Amino acid sequence: MILAHYYQEADIQEIADYVGDSLGLSQEAAKADADIILFAGVHFMAETAKILNPNKKVILPDLNAGCSLAESCPPELFGAFALKHADHMVVTYVNCSAEIKAMSDIVCTSSNAVAIVESIPEDVPILFAPDKNLGKYIIEKTGRKMLLWDGSCVVHEAFSLDKLIALHKQHPDAEIIAHPESETHILKTAGYIGSTAGMIDYVKRSDKSKFIIATEAGILYKMQQEVPEKILIPAPSNENNTCACSECAFMKLNTLQKVYDCLVAEAPEIKVPETIREKALVPIERMLELSK
Ligand code: 13P
Ligand code: SF4
Repeated sequence: MILAHYYQEADIQEIADYVGDSLGLSQEAAKADADIILFAGVHFMAETAKILNPNKKVILPDLNAGCSLAESCPPELFGAFALKHADHMVVTYVNCSAEIKAMSDIVCTSSNAVAIVESIPEDVPILFAPDKNLGKYIIEKTGRKMLLWDGSCVVHEAFSLDKLIALHKQHPDAEIIAHPESETHILKTAGYIGSTAGMIDYVKRSDKSKFIIATEAGILYKMQQEVPEKILIPAPSNENNTCACSECAFMKLNTLQKVYDCLVAEAPEIKVPETIREKALVPIERMLELSK
């Protein structure tokens, strides 16, 4: 079975059995009955699939497909931080390693983060990691105080507010929509904020016909298929990328050729030590239970 994230290149999305956001991909991985799951995404996603479905062989086309958020949260440092705030409930964004998940009380994705935090009794203090931008967004939505880990997504932090405002002036009829990994000043310009699947669903439901999309540019492929009649413009990045938009270099390490090679070799394989897997499974299952 081939699972692919919306940020994968179009060729890979085209051959995948399922394309989705982090939550949808976890749910598919948990119920997959194929012997092998090829995960066209980044390492933490494939690892989550392995944690949920340990009897399957999980393979990832390029083992270097990491994530700046996962890298920003080394287990030793995070462990010490969590210990210092042992009275706090640890809520972690799924974009982190299995070791970090194993130290968590509950996991969330961008599509259920607000609901997960709202499910926690108000008198319980919360430590949220690793994405400080998503954390700030949840604080604003829920009014909950949370202690935030200082991590961020390099792709979503690359959006340029000046260029975005200039682009919006050229297209005043376009609505800006954004992923909550973006910084607060970008989110303030957005008419809708949500996960990749949420953003696709929003442009389908909306009466509007033009959107500026502030997330990784790979989303445009499926989004455009869903709304062929609408105009979708990628939000501009500070960096001088070839597409003047924001691309995740980790996601783009996977290529169609590497997917093919990976299927032939049935490698590289994702392995998670059983002691870590058992601990990491608990907060992921809590999240899935609350997201039914
Ligand atoms: P979602 O697809 O869950 O919105 O996550 C975005 C992301 O950055 C995945 O790495
Ligand atoms: Fe990680 Fe950001 Fe790339 Fe998603 S887009 S995989 S959060 S670096």
